[in-house]
Amino acid sequence: MTLPTGLEMTVFDEVFRNRPHERFDALRAADPVHDDKVLGRVLLTRAADVAATLKDRSLSVDQRNAASDTIVQKLATMQDREAPRSMLVLDDPDHARLRRLVTHAFNARAIEAVKPRVRAVADELLDAVAGQDKFDLIESFASPLPIIVIAAMLGVDAADVGDFRRWSKALANVFSPIRSPEFLAALKANADELSAYFERAIAERRAAPRDDLISALVAVDDGGDRLTTEEIVTMCNLLLLAGNLTTTDLIGNCVLALLRHPEQLAKVQANPARIADAIEETLRLDPPVVQSLRIPLAPREIGGCPVRAGEAVTTFLMAAGQDPALHADPLTFDIDRADKTHFAFGGGVHFCLGAPLARAEAEIALTRLFARFPGLALTGDPIERNISAAFNGVQQLWVRP
Ligand code: HEM
Repeated sequence: MTLPTGLEMTVFDEVFRNRPHERFDALRAADPVHDDKVLGRVLLTRAADVAATLKDRSLSVDQRNAASDTIVQKLATMQDREAPRSMLVLDDPDHARLRRLVTHAFNARAIEAVKPRVRAVADELLDAVAGQDKFDLIESFASPLPIIVIAAMLGVDAADVGDFRRWSKALANVFSPIRSPEFLAALKANADELSAYFERAIAERRAAPRDDLISALVAVDDGGDRLTTEEIVTMCNLLLLAGNLTTTDLIGNCVLALLRHPEQLAKVQANPARIADAIEETLRLDPPVVQSLRIPLAPREIGGCPVRAGEAVTTFLMAAGQDPALHADPLTFDIDRADKTHFAFGGGVHFCLGAPLARAEAEIALTRLFARFPGLALTGDPIERNISAAFNGVQQLWVRP
């Protein structure tokens, strides 16, 4: 049997997009540290290798360290190289410094404080669809919710929320595989407008602080170490890029799994506190982020196989959560699993900063949704997966309230 490699291990492949476990199972069983010579990367599908690789602090996330024949360099554009670098793609000590400073502002208190707003936003969005015979859960609920919530956290004025929603949605096009000059120019124009907005907001907060995340980022002072305006703009952009589509996909994938598994939905409806279990099970089996990158700076072994310096090591977070060595019957959606281990939020020093916010938003969204529409059902309209280089979710999810 020939092993899947190259494009067959990407969303451009129909099987990978719709039944990724088939591809992961094939590689995990026969070649769990797979050298993909077509695209130039090494693919990890075993939970043990993914866990160890994510945690390994000697590995880099800085794409500039990737060898010239890897997928990372083949896809890099001039624009990517010039863009300011966020903590997601920086190594220590730069990463540790930014993460420490930002954590002063983006903390448990900020997330606790936004929960009532999440409830109110969820209810407003559900009010708007009540009375319709069917609606697209992604467009009407799962997509706007995280954007409106992060706008509230950042302190975007009510009058600017319309523009902010438009910029935030367009920002996500950066993950589209389209790369025509016109498309890239529109992306850049949008990114510039959004960054200019953040710069204005930062200047306003420096003059007159408010009770919001931008003011908190401006106020961070760790023994004299502070965030520059450019660092705050980059951070705000990262919050949108890393937090919006991912939370949308988590809500969408979890609703889809529950509607397809009525026996699991019944457990959630009998005890809404179990929505948290449904969310963890979705993160394990159908996570919004499929993969994360690490780059060795020196030759080494992973899972007993030699890997060269500069290799683009791709940890398949989804494959790791579905590893039979970790979970019995891994392809079954079962909210009763006692062991909730998954890798949906990555690991090590780059572990997702927004995980508590994402979990809170998804939990509140699903609780309000099923309380409001206890008979919610799929309409039978076709369900297409996104073709996105980074994220795993559905394009539309038509439901009957
Ligand atoms: C279900 C929703 C989400 C998923 C599945 C997710 C997943 C991830 C993953 C896989 C990483 C990379 C970790 C690694 O390479 O080890 C990451 C990093 C990050 N995420 Fe999330 N994320 C989600 C929501 C959010 C939200 C809501 C925010 C903020 C508003 C956020 C902010 C970040 C940031 C700032 C980083 C970079 C952390 C660092 O480099 O230290 N994420 N996320």
